[in-house]
Amino acid sequence: MVVALGISGGIAAYKACEIIRGLDRAGVEVQTILSRGGAQFITPLTLQTLSRNSVLSDRITPGEGGAVRHIDLTRRIDVFAVAPATANFLAKFARGIADDFLSTFYISVTAPVVLAPAMNSRMWDHPATRENLAILKGRGARIIEPETGWLAEEEQGVGRLADPDRIVQAILDEAGRSSQLKDLHVVVTAGPTREPLDPVRFLSNRSSGRMGFALASEAARRGARVTLIAGPVDLYTPRGVDRIDVETSSEMRKAVFESKAGADAVIMAAAVSDYIPPRSDRKIKKSSAEIDLRLSRGPDILKELGETRGSELLIGFAAETDNLLDNARAKLTGKNVDFIVANDISVPGIGMEAVDNEVTILDREGNLHPVPRASKEEVAGRILDHVLAGRSR
Ligand SMILES: Cc1cc2nc3c(=O)[nH]c(=O)nc-3n(C[C@H](O)[C@H](O)[C@H](O)COP(=O)(O)O)c2cc1C
Repeated sequence: MVVALGISGGIAAYKACEIIRGLDRAGVEVQTILSRGGAQFITPLTLQTLSRNSVLSDRITPGEGGAVRHIDLTRRIDVFAVAPATANFLAKFARGIADDFLSTFYISVTAPVVLAPAMNSRMWDHPATRENLAILKGRGARIIEPETGWLAEEEQGVGRLADPDRIVQAILDEAGRSSQLKDLHVVVTAGPTREPLDPVRFLSNRSSGRMGFALASEAARRGARVTLIAGPVDLYTPRGVDRIDVETSSEMRKAVFESKAGADAVIMAAAVSDYIPPRSDRKIKKSSAEIDLRLSRGPDILKELGETRGSELLIGFAAETDNLLDNARAKLTGKNVDFIVANDISVPGIGMEAVDNEVTILDREGNLHPVPRASKEEVAGRILDHVLAGRSR
């Protein structure tokens, strides 16, 4: 296994030595890449000695083919990690700036990316850093969140580089996972649907699409071919994912049935409208004090998938405000699916529009697997561990 380890210019750069040693002990070949800032905190000689490999940096030595070395290396590596990742590098990666070796390398890499940021808590909390992290997470990078404690600036806060052992473990996990779902085709639906009333109005729901996008991203990261069918959402397409945008429930139904031929799993995380209003081609004028809307039932895509299924795994979601587990059990059997992921949307801070989620996975054998509250990216990982890992060939 080969890991490219970027080291950028933070006070925690010295902890990269522990990471190199941990990876080396696990039998991993480490190729270090030192940023200009990083070189002010730690010397190439230290890194070279610990990794038993030359150090890549911005210095291009004639005759070494320096200009294309970043491309050569991208072909060989299993994981690209950066620890510590400075605020500066998170910004460069998020925006695709490629003005030095490390950032040019990032934009050339197809291997899984692990980023361990470290910085003062003011930098960590800044909206620019939050936005950059959201972009990078959305693209599928695994972020090893910094820890809370004493910072170099003699103040307490979040921003201290995660423990080197944790970073080593995350890198090894990522490398192990990257082929877990190889050769599988996974179809994921995400987001709400919109049912038009007239050319300007629609009925919809509060689904943000984050859970489905996190599942698509995680499945791609584990090596699956992923088709993501997305309702109207404001999210970046995860790296390596084929995305189909739809608006209405009938468009979503069509896209699901067209995409699922030969699929190994269909994960229905979208919140598909249950009821559809009559549609007027002309804008409804506000001529009367009240209007009556008679809603008709929309397509039940999950039920149809259950009725027509082949050997593919079928995973549904149940977002409930009452009797969560009873409703989820009824859905599991009533719709002939393999797993239901149930979440209680009456709990503040999780579910529909939130960044976090907390779910219970129900299977056909009657087992319950609770997944405690965590970011939707982490919850996606736990869901895939349960429902898909056993299917990998
Ligand atoms: C003593 C010192 C410590 C620093 N520590 C950090 C840090 O932990 N995290 C960070 O993002 N920037 C830190 N900075 C700022 C970066 O070094 C600066 O943004 C630099 O341009 C980053 O270099 P690089 O991103 O090219 O490696 C520090 C600066 C100094 C002078």
